[in-house]
Amino acid sequence: MSTNEDVKIAAVSGEDEGFAVLAARQTAGKGRQGKQWISPEGNMYLSFLLRPNCPMVDVGFYAFVTALAVCDAVLEFVPNADIQLKWPNDVLVDGKKISGILLESSPAPNGVVEWLVIGAGINVKHSPSTASYPTTSLAEAGKQVVSVQQVVESFLRHFDYWRQALSEKGFVAIRSAWLEKAKKGPLGVHLADKTLFGEFEDLDENGKLILKLADGSKHSIAAGDIFFNERQ
Ligand code: BTN
Repeated sequence: MSTNEDVKIAAVSGEDEGFAVLAARQTAGKGRQGKQWISPEGNMYLSFLLRPNCPMVDVGFYAFVTALAVCDAVLEFVPNADIQLKWPNDVLVDGKKISGILLESSPAPNGVVEWLVIGAGINVKHSPSTASYPTTSLAEAGKQVVSVQQVVESFLRHFDYWRQALSEKGFVAIRSAWLEKAKKGPLGVHLADKTLFGEFEDLDENGKLILKLADGSKHSIAAGDIFFNERQ
């Protein structure tokens, strides 16, 4: 089972905003780009339904809102964490991935968002190892025991805060908070047909990554998988 799949079914059948599923473990946890999300008992697996009355083009803002909420939740339990945000929505502690965020959405006929499912996984107790990137957990980074319930409460409180900031101040407020903690520097980005190498230049007002190539040209990237070294 996957909490995102369960909430998607509820979304299609007309559930109200706020419907949420929290699982102790998942048997079919989903990551981005069709990857698996290894989901043993002891970590957080939470998905919830939003019905934001916004155009589909703005749905990606919620990825940054969610990443900021994860970041603040992590800092609540590991106050001195060396935390970095990796475009578009990864949260790294000591350069290792501590969380995964998966947004799924569907448009209404008029182009606004019909439903948005936000799925968030936070490594609380375990750091499932993967071939593609290093991982860590709150237990490893903070050297203390935290309950999943505490992490859920903290994450949702911070999510409310950042969602409110988005609605009151717009993406400009989210963008600047995200940029303060962004992992910058040289990077590569895998696109559908090629891989580009360059330097992190900026996050634009739509949430796109601006990449500066060696020849000085700038590319704006809407979706892709970025890496900073061979193992990320
Ligand atoms: C990623 O690849 O980084 C995204 C991983 C998202 C995992 C979470 S866990 C809760 C929710 N349910 C899923 O099946 N996936 C998301």
